[in-house]
Amino acid sequence: MTPSKTKELALKIEDVSIAFGGLKAVDNLSFAIERHEIFGLIGPNGAGKTTIFNCITQFYKADSGSIHFINAKGKETDLMDLSVHEIIDEGIVRTFQNVELIRELSIMDNVLIGAHHVMKQPLLGQLFNRKAIRKDEAESREKAEKILAFLDIEHLKDLIAGSQPYGVQKKVEIARTLMSDPELIILDEPAAGLNDTETKELAMRIKQIRETYQTTILLVEHDMRLVMDICDHICAISFGKRIAVGTPKEIQSNPEVQKAYLGEEGELE
Ligand SMILES: Nc1ncnc2c1ncn2[C@@H]1O[C@H](COP(=O)(O)OP(=O)(O)O)[C@@H](O)[C@H]1O
Ligand SMILES: [Mg+2]
Repeated sequence: MTPSKTKELALKIEDVSIAFGGLKAVDNLSFAIERHEIFGLIGPNGAGKTTIFNCITQFYKADSGSIHFINAKGKETDLMDLSVHEIIDEGIVRTFQNVELIRELSIMDNVLIGAHHVMKQPLLGQLFNRKAIRKDEAESREKAEKILAFLDIEHLKDLIAGSQPYGVQKKVEIARTLMSDPELIILDEPAAGLNDTETKELAMRIKQIRETYQTTILLVEHDMRLVMDICDHICAISFGKRIAVGTPKEIQSNPEVQKAYLGEEGELE
């Protein structure tokens, strides 16, 4: 599948570096993501994949380099000028390597949390205009129900999130990202802990999300079959450095990539 014909970019990462103590976790890394593509970031454990996600979402501030996001209207934003809380307003959301839900709340309530920033009523308005809030809430609930139905978990909406199997919790996390009308969804190891059947379903879902919600997707994943199956382009990194960027075919046959994976569990098939 080819991404947008005009090849508009959605995210540009240029020469980004970040060190922890003496360790360069990300080392002069550059790659660009086209709008509406599914872009994979791969690399052995400790290669710096989660760290680069944290730099994009401004959870960490990169030591150097630039990270620019170009939204669907063509507006370019230097993400390094923003705080971690402002990232969601740009239309960028993420999931976490270890599922992060409020375990004691219902699935519905966990999903509704994702709607917070799109509620139409400003805070002061919320104090005085109860009717408008109820309308906002009703709209959010309806939207959440649609998303849960899209992910086939609507029937579980009133159950406590923490009591659900891991596969369901991962779906709830994805549902929450969809509540914020995202333009870019960043998924950190979405298939980790899933069985074969669940992983196949996830692959289908990610492609469906791209189509239905018209988003760009950036993912880190160890399951090479999933990565090779759904990604338009892949960047392979090792020790924080880029070793190759290309189509799944190009990455699979790249000797540098194969070398980086020798002795790793997630071998390239
Ligand atoms: N907050 C931190 N403090 C110190 N070291 C860190 C921190 N975050 C990540 N690292 C280190 O950076 C390197 C890359 O980690 P990470 O990005 O989590 O790798 P990956 O996601 O590719 O497995 C690792 O050596 C890790 O220990
Ligand atoms: Mg990681």
